Parts: sequence; C-alpha cells; structure tokens
Amino acid sequence: MKIARFSRIGFILAAAGSAVGLGNIWKFPYITGENGGGAFVFVYLITVLMIGFTLMIAEMLIGYVGRRDSVSNFEELAPRHKNLWKYGGFMSIAGLIIMTFYSPVIGWTFHFVLLSLGSLPASVEVAKEHFTTLLSLDIGTQIFYHTLVFLFVTTVVARGIKGGIEKLNFFLMPVLIVTMGSMFVYATTLSGFTQSWDFMFGVDWSKLTSASLVTAVGHAFFTLSLGMATILTYSASLPKDSNLVRSSLIVIALDTGIALVAGLTLFTFLYEYGASPSAGPGLVFISLPAVFSEMGVAGHFFAFTFFVALASAGLTSAVSLVEPFIQYLVDRFKFSRLKASVASGLFFYIFGIVAILSTSKEYGEILTFGSKNFFDWADFITASVMLPIGGLIMAIFVGHVMQEERVASVLKRDLGFFYPYWYFSLRYIVPIALFVVVLNLVGVLNL
Ligand code: PFF
Repeated sequence: MKIARFSRIGFILAAAGSAVGLGNIWKFPYITGENGGGAFVFVYLITVLMIGFTLMIAEMLIGYVGRRDSVSNFEELAPRHKNLWKYGGFMSIAGLIIMTFYSPVIGWTFHFVLLSLGSLPASVEVAKEHFTTLLSLDIGTQIFYHTLVFLFVTTVVARGIKGGIEKLNFFLMPVLIVTMGSMFVYATTLSGFTQSWDFMFGVDWSKLTSASLVTAVGHAFFTLSLGMATILTYSASLPKDSNLVRSSLIVIALDTGIALVAGLTLFTFLYEYGASPSAGPGLVFISLPAVFSEMGVAGHFFAFTFFVALASAGLTSAVSLVEPFIQYLVDRFKFSRLKASVASGLFFYIFGIVAILSTSKEYGEILTFGSKNFFDWADFITASVMLPIGGLIMAIFVGHVMQEERVASVLKRDLGFFYPYWYFSLRYIVPIALFVVVLNLVGVLNL
C-alpha cells in the first residue's frame, strides 16, 4: 500500500520531534543530576555519536529501502528466513507500551501549564506535597489529562502522515525551539550559569559508576527514538533521493542540543535559587515550580513557557510512538487510518489508566509486581530492555543479514569515504556494546 510522503523538511522536523521529548527536558536533566554531572554527560555524548549515529542511519535505511510498515520491511529485506525476521518489526509494540506511562506524564505537564497561570507552590515542601498528592490521591485529575492526551494524539495520527503528523510538527517544533531557546538566553545572564556549566561539563571520573554508564547508554537510545521502528516507519515515507546521513546528523544535533540547553537552563535556575540538582524525577515537577514561584511574576511567565515547551516536546514524540503500529495495521490488515488510530489509542488509553492507578495510594499495592509498580515496569521493560534489544536486532539485520549491495547502494552515496568505517562499526562495535548493555540490564551481568 502506498504511504503518503513527508516533505524533506517535514521528515526532519517529525524525526526531530520524535527524538526531542520528555526524555530531553524531563529525564536527561534529572538523570544527569542523579549521576553526578560531567562524566555522565561525556559518556552519553560519546554513546550518541558512536552508537546512536551509526544505528540511526541503519534504522533509516530499513524504512527508506523497504518503504512499508516495519514488519513488511524486515520480511521483504531479509534474503532468507523471512518468517523469522519479520518478528523484528514487532518491536513497534514497544511504542504503545511506552505511551501507557508517557501519556500520563504529558498529562502532568498539562496540569502544570494551568498551575503556572494560577498559584505556584511557595516552597519545595509545598511543591512536593502537591506532586505527591497528584500522583497518589488525585486519580481523577490524572485520568482527565490522560484522556485529553489520548483524544489529541488519536485525532492527529488519524489525519495521517502529511495532514496530521507533519502539520503538528511544523507548528510545535518552532514553539519548542523558541521557548527553550529564550529561556536559555535568559539563563546565561544569571550567575548560576557558571555553576551549571561546571556541573554539566566538568568531568570528574570518580563520580561515574558502572550503573551510570549503563544508564547513559540506555538513555541515548530512548532519547534518539531508536530501536522500536519509529525512525524506520517515518523514513518509509521519505522522498526518494533523500540524504540519510545528513538527515540523521540534523536530528541528532537537534536532539542533543536541546537536551544540553534544557540541562544548562534548569541547573542554572536551580543553582540560582539554592535548590539541588540531584532531586530525581521530581526535579521538573517539584524543585522547578518552587524555584519559579520564588521568581515572582516573572516566574509565572517562565513556568508557563517551560511547561508549554515540555508539553509540545511530549506531544510530537507521542504521535511517533503510536505511528509504527498504526502503519502496521493499515499496511498488513487494511485497517482504515481512523480504525487503526482508535485501536492503538484505546490500547494505551486503557493501560495508561492502569499505570495511573498503579501510582495511587488506593490501588498501588495490587498493581505492584515485585519491585516495581505497573508504571515503572512499563518504563523499565521498554526503555531499558525492548529498545536496546530492538537496536541490537536492527544492527545485526542491516550489518549481517541484508545483502551488502543494497546497503552500499544507498549509503556509499551518502557516506562517501566514511562508508567502510560506518559498516564496520555497525557490524561489530554497536552489537557488542548493545549486547553488554542488554546482558547487564536483564541481570546476567552485574556491572
Ligand atoms: N525520544 C523520546 C524522548 O526523548 O522523550 C521518546 C521516544 C519517542 C522513544 C519515540 C522512542 C520512540 F520511538
């Protein structure tokens, strides 16, 4: 089935919109804070360059050459064992599982956008209580915002690649870049900026534990949207004769740039007002609102701007999380786009409610399995297990299974002189690095 095409710039915006998400603005600063700053940032940057870049080109190639949904692409491009390789495409289900916790978090950002227009919590203690209450007692508010996210995302994806996803990114990506950019410019004028810079880029190796090393690698995957067929699905709609290397570089530069800008800005605000950078997941939803409240009237403006940026980043990633599965239903089962969007939407909507209940006081216990509740399992299983495994499958597929002529026919053109280095890295370095991460994550290794 023919898929409506992105325009060239539309593809770059949509792929960057997918990559730049809650992972950049919410997760990256707090895990950097928890893992001691500079050395962690260094490992993350190296991983993005060495593994992320190599793999993004490979994932793009599968979509660009195959031009169909993820399952069909694996099936068609595998010279042998097609029935086995097609399962490589089922990693698209990870996107729906991610959405079960991603959508509630976007819901929190909606809640904070409104809060920034009213009264911000006056101190960290009050902010903490507010956030804990939202999570543990206020199920209704969370489900309300989760419902809005479900309706919004489903409506956008139902309108298709061009009329829905491309348009959304054309509108929200500039909003995100302008809001984060102007906050960053303001942050550079504050005295806390120097401390923030030192924290992010002052490398102190003694602070790097092996666990932070694995976290950095895992995060590089999550933030670049690799390993679950998002980039692959988008690139199936790339215009022919697009340059995959240039597109990958732009997406990676935007994703990394926005993560660094978000980290520097947030830590500047936190240092300026004496809060700690190592506050964990509550950094953005607890420490930051308290800091904004100390800024007075300007704080409301910054809070509004910041949470609008966060919501925009989340929404452009959310559509990319559901699209691969929709494409699969449309292409393989001839579902209409509307039917496929509603079916995928209902999946994450229903399990999203389970995720919300699992953080609540009333239902938390019955929805906790072993050490984690449903919400945390959804995060762990996808970001830490499924995505690295998906990446490993893709690296092996393009590096060892696909006929080299097919790979070379596109990438010799785009990579030129660097092609052999890229191919070597894809065949050996990336799989070995990912294999170690996967073994460690599933507990076989204990780094
Ligand atoms: N890259 C997104 C973020 O950083 O928030 C999350 C994400 C989107 C992960 C799409 C995976 C994906 F396929």
